[in-house]
Amino acid sequence: ADEQSSYTFEIVDEVANFLLSRTVVRPTVGIICGTGLGSLAEKLEDKAIFKYEDIPHFPVSSVEGHAGQLVFGRLEGVSVVCMQGRFHYYEGYPLWKCCMPVRVMKLLGVKYFIATNAAGGLNERYKVGDIMILRDHVNFMGFAGNNPLRGANDDRFGPRFPPMSKAYDPELIDVAKSVVKDMNIGDIVHEGVYTCLGGPCYETQAELRLLKLLGIDAVGMSTVHEIVTAVHCGLRCFAFSLISNECVTEYNTEAEANHEEVMDTGKMRAPILQALVAEFIKRVDG
Ligand code: 6GU
Repeated sequence: ADEQSSYTFEIVDEVANFLLSRTVVRPTVGIICGTGLGSLAEKLEDKAIFKYEDIPHFPVSSVEGHAGQLVFGRLEGVSVVCMQGRFHYYEGYPLWKCCMPVRVMKLLGVKYFIATNAAGGLNERYKVGDIMILRDHVNFMGFAGNNPLRGANDDRFGPRFPPMSKAYDPELIDVAKSVVKDMNIGDIVHEGVYTCLGGPCYETQAELRLLKLLGIDAVGMSTVHEIVTAVHCGLRCFAFSLISNECVTEYNTEAEANHEEVMDTGKMRAPILQALVAEFIKRVDG
């Protein structure tokens, strides 16, 4: 019962072919839109939309703030595919199921993978509404042996022991920083270390203090395993967090994390985030 299975290459290929036979868009960029950031997908031109429930073998997502559809289209002339709503571990899926769409993107022909998320800010300098470019991550769930790549490895996706030393492509980080400079938003953008915990609870004060002590700048419930899966199959990765709430490490306060604040921050920053992503992909693949 402890044995990990996974979608076979053939199944993932079947999903990719299902999608390719129903759209003319051939995406080079794959984007996962985090909580409150789904409006990016609405900006696409020449959209082809697939509800997750209509895609064979696809898991179905359930969280408020996540639409649950795959959107193909063009952004700034670049062909992209967006996941509007992702699969979270706390919904009950094993990590390999959460990450299956990343492999679908690979077989669709995607070269660049962009993950976005809403996260709690641990770094004292981060304010609500700031953006953190992921420089690196700590795979906490991986420390405990829970990894989307656990189980038999299919070399058609990637190697058994993939390095993670350049998980967040340094060249893509440089491109993002040049966009940030030109948009004049340097005062709200940081580079930092992200970690994913299993959720669905937000963290206690002691847990947040621990994470802080370990040098983690932002904490969320996604992205790390998606990046692991994407790096494994050779996608060039970029990710950013929208700091949706401050992590409260004091006891004498009424402040606490809540999903409404997380979504509201996303809505507030949607225009800037969309502009950032649009200009980023134009420079990467324009
Ligand atoms: Cl404070 N923690 C986690 N795990 N995820 C979050 C968050 C906090 N804020 C937004 N997402």
